[in-house]
Amino acid sequence: MKHLVVLSGAGVSADSGIKTFRDADGLWENYRVEDVCTPEALAANPALVLDFYNQRRRQLKTTQPNAGHIAIAELEKVFKVDVITQNVDNLHERAGSTRVLHLHGELTKVRSMTHPAYICEVDGDIAVGDLCPQGGQLRPHIVFFGEAVPMLERAAAIVSTADLLLIAGTSMVVYPAASLYGYAPQNCPIYVINPDATTIAAPNVTYIRERFAVGMPQLAQQLKMDNG
Ligand code: OAD
Repeated sequence: MKHLVVLSGAGVSADSGIKTFRDADGLWENYRVEDVCTPEALAANPALVLDFYNQRRRQLKTTQPNAGHIAIAELEKVFKVDVITQNVDNLHERAGSTRVLHLHGELTKVRSMTHPAYICEVDGDIAVGDLCPQGGQLRPHIVFFGEAVPMLERAAAIVSTADLLLIAGTSMVVYPAASLYGYAPQNCPIYVINPDATTIAAPNVTYIRERFAVGMPQLAQQLKMDNG
C-alpha cells in the first residue's frame, strides 16, 4: 500500500463550524495569542487560559466531522494513511482515521503542571484547583507558543516516508509545523487544499482552491481511481 501523509490545519475543521485562527473573524481576531496561548499567560491568569480551552472543549461536543474528514478516513481502505494535524480537536479520529498525530496537543487531554508525564483524558471543564494525584495543577494538553513541539521528530519521520502528501486547511505560517513538508522525499506529489492563494516552495504541487468539505471528497475519488 502506498503511504499517504496528510498535514492538516484549522481550515479542515472550518466546514464543521470551528473557527480558524487567522481568517476574518478567526480566533486570533477576538483574542490575543499572548493572553491565552503562552506559558506566561497561564502563569499570570490561569483562570482565563483554562476558560479559553474549556470553551473550545465544550464546542467540540456540538460539532461533527465533515465530508472531508470522512473522505480521509475512508482512504485507509486504499492507502496507509497518517494524519499529522495542527488541530487540537478530535474530528479526524471521530471520522474514523486510526493514525492521527497531534502536533499542537489535544483538547480532550489535560496534564499536570508539576508532573508533565501525568496526562489524562478530560470531558468537561477544568478549573484552578483541579489537581493531579501528586497535587499539581492540571493544564490543557496544548502546545503553547514558546513551548517545544515534542511530536515534531516523529512527524518528520512519518513525512519522510510519504508516497503522497496532502496539505489541507493551513496558512503555513506557524513553525515548525509549516516546515514539515520539506521532509517529503524528492518528487513526492503534493496536493494543497485551500480556498485561498497559499503556495508552497516545492515541485510537483497541485493546488485545489476549494473548501475542504468539497475539495477533499473529490480528491479522494481521484486518488482511489489512480491508485486503487
Ligand atoms: P490558520 O487560521 O492560520 O489558517 C487556516 C487556513 O485554512 C487558511 O489558510 C484558510 O485559507 C484555510 N481555510 C479556511 N477555511 C477553509 C476551508 N473551509 N477549507 C479549507 N481551508 C480553509 O490555521 P492553522 O494554519 O491551522 O496553534 O494555524 C496553525 C496554528 O496557529 C494552530 O495550530 C494554532 C494557531 O495559533 C496553536 O494554538 C499552538
